[in-house]
Amino acid sequence: MHQLIWNKPSVSRWINGLLSRMGTDILCLRLGSVHVVAVACPEMAREVLRVKEAAFMSRPSTFVSSAFSYGYKSASLTTFEQQWRKMRRIVTSEILSPALDRRLHAQRVDEADHLIRYVSDQIKMTQDNTINIRHVGQHFCGNLVRRLVFGKRYFGEAEPAMAVAGPGDDEVEHVDALFTLVNYVYGFCVSDYFPALVGLDLDGHEKVAKGVVSTFDRLHDPIIEERMREWADRREAVEKREAADFLDVLVSLEDAAGHPLLTFEEIKAQIVEIMFATVDSPSNAAEWALAEMLNKPDVMQKAIDELDAVVGRERLVQESDICKLNYLKSCIREAFRIHPFHAFTAPRVAMEDTTIGGYTVPKGSHVILSRIGLGHKPTVWPEPLEFRPERHLLVGDGMVGLGEPDLRFVSFSTGRRGCPAVPLGTSVTMMLFARLLHGFTWTKPPGVDEIALQESRTSLSLAEPLLLQAEPRLAAHVYLAN
Ligand code: HEM
Repeated sequence: MHQLIWNKPSVSRWINGLLSRMGTDILCLRLGSVHVVAVACPEMAREVLRVKEAAFMSRPSTFVSSAFSYGYKSASLTTFEQQWRKMRRIVTSEILSPALDRRLHAQRVDEADHLIRYVSDQIKMTQDNTINIRHVGQHFCGNLVRRLVFGKRYFGEAEPAMAVAGPGDDEVEHVDALFTLVNYVYGFCVSDYFPALVGLDLDGHEKVAKGVVSTFDRLHDPIIEERMREWADRREAVEKREAADFLDVLVSLEDAAGHPLLTFEEIKAQIVEIMFATVDSPSNAAEWALAEMLNKPDVMQKAIDELDAVVGRERLVQESDICKLNYLKSCIREAFRIHPFHAFTAPRVAMEDTTIGGYTVPKGSHVILSRIGLGHKPTVWPEPLEFRPERHLLVGDGMVGLGEPDLRFVSFSTGRRGCPAVPLGTSVTMMLFARLLHGFTWTKPPGVDEIALQESRTSLSLAEPLLLQAEPRLAAHVYLAN
């Protein structure tokens, strides 16, 4: 317990430090009553997630993950049981169905256009053209996911006085709550390993989790309740309509008897999960990639050349261009590899006594894959901290994707509990990154020779939000038409 408290605010940094100092690919820590097994080589990672995936299908029960999932109601935080099967099936076959994906295309385009309008407007409004990339990226993801889930960008009305409204107070609180959630879930809370201490809140995580949940309740509940009433009325009147967003899907699903398939709590939990799954990795990867590229003009030039060759300067980059933007995707892969948002993957729980790499892993152990250990492994990635997108181009047929099923680093993970949203996650990340690079020329602020690539003390994010200066770079009519 003293190690958990002593090594705050970054227990993950302590564990990754142990892996590195001991020069080991696997270690086991006894935290309270739990064996925590950290793995840092692709072979053993594949053993956990592929070869022995049936043994490692579950997730831990913790105060925080229970609070964020309204009692383990959502797919990713629930332990391995009926509830996981039910919610995973709904996410993969209903929420992420190709038909709904096509129907929501216009909403995604509108948010990508809003991104360009917002940055253009900021350039006009600020004297020195300085843009906070973190703010822009996080709110692009927040806007987009609210649009996909609720069909709208704002909780209330957008401020009509502004030409291109930025986030209001509710939207800022919402995105802050989502980021607090991702920073605290599986955040090495003392009571995760000493369950008898739940309620004492020794490290303050319980208070934070309750605050986050009350923000979601305040902002989400009225929208969900209203939509449930609408669909109940429709059921009664036998007049259905096509689902227009993720909430419609969740509310309209029915069981064999024609009753709503999901409870209010299940809908709330699944919505929170979709939202937090969408915001962290895309915005963090785009910010780090830009920071690295500002220090490497040759890499930046190659990315710009690719955009000019594939898209040109007479129109904006679109989702349909992503398949041809292999260099840009390699830049994002480098950002995922060197600068993951999380130091470890969400824990898997051993459902039986088993082994990894020949070492005994007792039933109930928490197994975590070190994203840092995997992505920075010098035998797999020579000069691991060098941002070198070319490494990803030299394999196969040169077509690049953001997935890494062989686990040489972690992006979407793999196996039956791997991320079900690779196409959507790729589209969100690439549209953010490609639109920023294509729409604007980015330079360092005056007096800054090099962007400081330093991590925050408490997380793996850049220590300070990335501030860059922007100039429009496309034909003027592109911005006017937008
Ligand atoms: C760039 C964006 C994204 C990345 C990098 C990412 C990555 C991941 C990773 C690493 C996992 C854990 C898998 C494991 O434990 O092995 C995961 C799980 C999951 N992701 Fe994503 N994800 C992204 C976007 C999304 C989006 C947009 C959704 C929205 C539907 C989503 C839904 C899920 C769900 C439901 C799970 C839980 C799967 C389960 O436990 O069965 N993800 N994701």
